[in-house]
Amino acid sequence: MNDLFLRVCRGEAVERPPVWLMRQAGRYLPEYRAIRSGVSFLELCKSSELAAKVSLQPIDILGVDAAIVFADILIVPDAMGVELRFEKGDGPSFPTPIRNRDDIARLRHPDVEATLGYVFSTLRVLRAELDGRVPLIGFAGSPWTLAAYVVEGGVSTAFPRLLAWSYEDPSAVVTLLERLADTTIDYLRGQVEAGAQALQIFDTWGGLLSAERWRSLALPSMQRILESIPAGVPRILYLRNGGHLLEVLADLPVEVLSVDWRVPLDEVRRSCSSVPVLQGNLDPCTLLAPIEVIERETARVLEQGSGGGHIVNLGHGILPQTPVEHAKAFVRFAQGGGSRLVAKPADAALPNH
Ligand code: CP3
Repeated sequence: MNDLFLRVCRGEAVERPPVWLMRQAGRYLPEYRAIRSGVSFLELCKSSELAAKVSLQPIDILGVDAAIVFADILIVPDAMGVELRFEKGDGPSFPTPIRNRDDIARLRHPDVEATLGYVFSTLRVLRAELDGRVPLIGFAGSPWTLAAYVVEGGVSTAFPRLLAWSYEDPSAVVTLLERLADTTIDYLRGQVEAGAQALQIFDTWGGLLSAERWRSLALPSMQRILESIPAGVPRILYLRNGGHLLEVLADLPVEVLSVDWRVPLDEVRRSCSSVPVLQGNLDPCTLLAPIEVIERETARVLEQGSGGGHIVNLGHGILPQTPVEHAKAFVRFAQGGGSRLVAKPADAALPNH
């Protein structure tokens, strides 16, 4: 049984840092594409048998130290009545976006068992199939990140509609975030009951806010979600592009903070000394470079993370064009990294005797 991941989350000293990859079940794997070619993305999420199968692929193929349930953050607003579509090649869209107070009033507070029960059954199937091989992670999106998509109506890199609305009527936006949090709280509790052993909250777009606005807009609903998670279940907060938010994050009740490659882990550890464990933070683009570069950059991440609890991961999801051999090289190097860390560039330059 490999419980390295859970032991690190609990703050225990371990023989080596565990490693997994955000979006580790996905299109870069031919085995994923084979299953996906027969079904739509949402059908795949809703079939617990197939979803469990793709969740297990990176465990068997890459040998990562944790599994994450296959689902998507955007199924939560869908369950609340904001219809989600995945059109071929276009990414997710919400044809009836939430843009005003009347739209917010129409949101449902659904029974999560009835609307999202398929994720709970995937978790149950996974726990049985994993049989203790590696721990199982559940997840949800942060209210702010979900709001970015439901207000915009689809993907964007700047989410101008949510940002404009948050300047114009911040209290309406806070109400929207609280409604999203209500369902997320039920959903995460259901995941724990179904067997999730740790929970990650993805705040992919929180970095769009200044620290002051993150505190007033995004923090209250985030805090409520984190505090609602049953005691003993490690909470991981992933924040993309949030170097300017470290001071705000330092006070949040989380066991693990996951950051992207823009902030070195040793600096994060100094700014957030109250957070015991860090996760990250290799730039996913590194995995497109030759294997020697992947090893060098992974050594740097291991070195920068070595001052305390560390879960090795990417700084964002793995890219679909990543060669599988490169993902394997990352995992292999991270898992052998404790002993290989001695081969730093400076040492490598020394003569052999
Ligand atoms: O990590 C895993 O292996 C578990 C599954 C998982 C998916 N999405 C599956 C997925 C997880 C944890 C997510 C999280 C997610 N989804 C986030 C937060 C993390 C991040 O990447 O920022 C966000 C913002 C989404 C929303 C989403 N889902 C977008 C914008 C897209 C389209 C872009 C893309 O990456 O394809 C998706 C689709 C999606 N979610 C796919 C997968 C495997 C690809 C769908 C396909 O097979 O066509």
